[in-house]
Amino acid sequence: MPELRLENVGYRYKSGERDALQGVSCTFRDGEVSAVMGPSGSGKTTLLSVMAGLDRPTRGNVYLDGEDLSELDLDRYRRERVAMIFQAFQLFPLLTALENVALPMEMNGAKKAEAQARAKELLLSVGIGEEMHRRYPAHLSGGEQQRVAIARALASGARVLLAD
Ligand SMILES: Nc1ncnc2c1ncn2[C@@H]1O[C@H](COP(=O)(O)OP(=O)(O)OP(=O)(O)O)[C@@H](O)[C@H]1O
Ligand SMILES: [Mg+2]
Repeated sequence: MPELRLENVGYRYKSGERDALQGVSCTFRDGEVSAVMGPSGSGKTTLLSVMAGLDRPTRGNVYLDGEDLSELDLDRYRRERVAMIFQAFQLFPLLTALENVALPMEMNGAKKAEAQARAKELLLSVGIGEEMHRRYPAHLSGGEQQRVAIARALASGARVLLAD
């Protein structure tokens, strides 16, 4: 069964006085939509960062389909298998909405015209109309920026989609 599994995961920031995560064990199965809830500062972003391979857990292990993340090439894992929508959307400020979605596809080898066509389709599917495609993130509302970030994450075709 394809799944993302955490086993006794702990995390402490280098400057942290206490653990941001402690003994987290859970399984996310293929096709499931799961919500992680908790007060501000309880470790949600930290948990997603560990699952996204942005940070290595201080304790415990994360497995994707039984493969231990600590034994995988994390750059490749992030490029091909996991997509993260950040809490602060992390769009490139000097790229238009369309370019923000198309560029990662081009970097993964898609032809420019194909990447742009797919990017348009994805933007429209999240409610970003053509008139916004050429705008820079600073000229979009917060919700519009977030939807561009969702389109970009979907564009990657990654198996695991993490939304903070
Ligand atoms: N870079 C960092 N260095 C040190 N401590 C950090 C760092 N980032 C977060 N923390 C601490 O780790 C704990 C968990 O933070 P985290 O960002 O995961 O919380 P969160 O649940 O996502 O909160 P919010 O709902 O406000 O986004 C908090 O106590 C926070 O202060
Ligand atoms: Mg957070």
